[in-house]
Amino acid sequence: MYSEAQEKGLYADGIQLLQKSHFEIEDIQLLKEVINFADYRYYILSNSVFTDVEYDTLFKALQKLEEHYPNYVTADSPTQRVAQGISEKFQTVKHLVPMLSLDNTYNADDLKDWDRRCKELSGLDEIEYCIEPKYDGASISLIYDHNQLQRGATRGDGIMGEEITPNIKQIRSIPLRANFSEINIEQIEIRGEAIIHKDVFEQFNSQRISEGLQPLANPRNAASGTLRMLDSNEVSKRRLSAVLYHVSYYALKMGKDLPESLQTHYDTILLLHQNGFLTPINEMKKFRHIDEVIQFCHDFEARRDHLPYEVDGLVIKVNAIALQEKMGMTSHHPRWAVAFKFKARQATSQLLRVEFQVGRTGSVTPVAKINPVAIGGVMVSSVSLFNEDVVREKDLHIGDIVLVERAGDVIPYIVKALPEMRTGSESPIVFPTHCPDCGELLEKPEDEAVWRCINISCPSQVVERLTHFCSKDAMDIRGMGISNVKKFYDLGIVKDIPGLYRIDWNRVGALEGFGDKSINNLQQAIEASKAQPLHRLIFGLGIRQVGETMAKTLAQAVSEISDFYSWPLENYLPLDDVGPKVAASVFDFFALVENRTIIQSLIEAGLNTKSQKQGSEGFSGTFSGKTFLFTGTLSQLKRSEAEAIVEKLGGKIATSVSSKLNYLIVGTDAGSKLEKAKKLTTISILSEEQFLTLVNQ
Ligand code: IVH
Repeated sequence: MYSEAQEKGLYADGIQLLQKSHFEIEDIQLLKEVINFADYRYYILSNSVFTDVEYDTLFKALQKLEEHYPNYVTADSPTQRVAQGISEKFQTVKHLVPMLSLDNTYNADDLKDWDRRCKELSGLDEIEYCIEPKYDGASISLIYDHNQLQRGATRGDGIMGEEITPNIKQIRSIPLRANFSEINIEQIEIRGEAIIHKDVFEQFNSQRISEGLQPLANPRNAASGTLRMLDSNEVSKRRLSAVLYHVSYYALKMGKDLPESLQTHYDTILLLHQNGFLTPINEMKKFRHIDEVIQFCHDFEARRDHLPYEVDGLVIKVNAIALQEKMGMTSHHPRWAVAFKFKARQATSQLLRVEFQVGRTGSVTPVAKINPVAIGGVMVSSVSLFNEDVVREKDLHIGDIVLVERAGDVIPYIVKALPEMRTGSESPIVFPTHCPDCGELLEKPEDEAVWRCINISCPSQVVERLTHFCSKDAMDIRGMGISNVKKFYDLGIVKDIPGLYRIDWNRVGALEGFGDKSINNLQQAIEASKAQPLHRLIFGLGIRQVGETMAKTLAQAVSEISDFYSWPLENYLPLDDVGPKVAASVFDFFALVENRTIIQSLIEAGLNTKSQKQGSEGFSGTFSGKTFLFTGTLSQLKRSEAEAIVEKLGGKIATSVSSKLNYLIVGTDAGSKLEKAKKLTTISILSEEQFLTLVNQ
């Protein structure tokens, strides 16, 4: 896409622009070019050249100039991705070429049959095939007219789709402009898949859960739901990507010939890649024998969980476009392509009973107990039903045969009941009126879907709150998982959060299964937690609507936690992503005397309650703007210590491997995070030694 010299030039231009204190009209063009380049590095190559702050500075400068000089706003300016607001409804549009589906194959024999048919149809005895991932997202079609992104649409019924151009522009990996005229193309229709990367999806769902919202079922549903959202602001927050894998139509300039670059499927994808699109190019393979294709299918299926996005199979395509045209299509699918579908992550089972679990905020969640069934190699016997609305919507009954799906790392969920399998002996799911644990009358706030136990001393809630406080993403107290927390709580050893810091270890020592070593480890973990950064403490306190990101925003806004005691409601609203709901929840939390007492006890126990801003003076900056993640077991440092070092030096601890991660520090027995990181070329993978050297530098 960019030559090395161009990259260097644009980077230098960016740095020069960043040094300016004042921007002029002459800077508009360069700002656009530099921002487009930064987008390309970030969204396509996952290898950013500018920090978030630098990027924002350039972006805001361009926005400001364009505000002053509206005549200079062009449709392909990066600012034009900025969400336009809410559409009333989408228009129906006709695809230039019908968006056909794919025929499916499930095993080696199916593939051999398809290979045979291809050879018969083409009259050849050897065909070159291209093989690439089958992305599990939502189909999209893009039209570029005179190089400019003109229209984006959903697949719809294949003939007509919905025009979703404003939402498509929120997908930062889709270029607003590409250079198709260079190869004499005036108009081109490109097909691809809008997807959400697994880590983005997980982060998004954990945020929703912490806000008391229902998590989205899987990345595929999330992608297709997002594309059709009426509010493009919301779309932009969901961080979709799009992989483009097919050119379905192009119109050439008068009197010009089929471009060289569109003679094979591979070259077509290469052309898209060179024009700045995200494509399967790095995963694509070419084979001339179906046995090689079959082998690749099996190898790839074994690796599917390590990919950063969901795939439900592979697509095998005849490489030569002329041959594709000769082979043609049915009304349903092209004859020159076929999908090899991976083993289903769905299974049917029977819904045996429903248990009601009380969460840390008192929410009562129905959990279906099903006949244990293996899905994608994992036994599933418990499936969350989220809330009463979900049970009603899906019309679930005890005794129903249900379809259960487990997509990758995502928690299993019930897709639907199979009513045709009912025998008449099924019974309705009855929601309790009282807390299954403490017996308190349940309440359902008007604007919420969940029933809640409002007794804050309800034992289940306390145990869940304590477990959350100790969890990895909060105070990271190893060894205090739910079973030990419950044991300590039931025996009265730990009754509340401050109780963790005054455990009577003699009593613990008398318990079965607690030797000197495990006690020592627990003591150390509890001690180390005192130094955790403030945002972890805020997250650990379990304030409703406050997930990890919000906790960081809050921690950044004060010098120390007790500052919140005197904050009026209005102070919260200007903070990033804080709406009235979050503001009210945090305000109410700090207004409550019981919560202030807890915080006071934690201060007295010696916990760090000061914001990083305060504690890091003197060193800040060394790691600033850099994100770190630790995986596996470290030998010289405890993980919490290592993380504290990073934060002290101004770095951030990431929650998962993504293109935003700068360093992955690997201890022994590292697992999937390492595998994931190896696929993202931008991440530096360091040993513990190398990390320490970096720190000492
Ligand atoms: S090619 C005529 N390639 O799978 C070209 N489709 O089940 C047909 N899909 O509707 C599409 N990854 O939405 C193609 N690498 C890929 C794909 C892919 C995902 C989707 C596409 C299609 C569906 C068929």
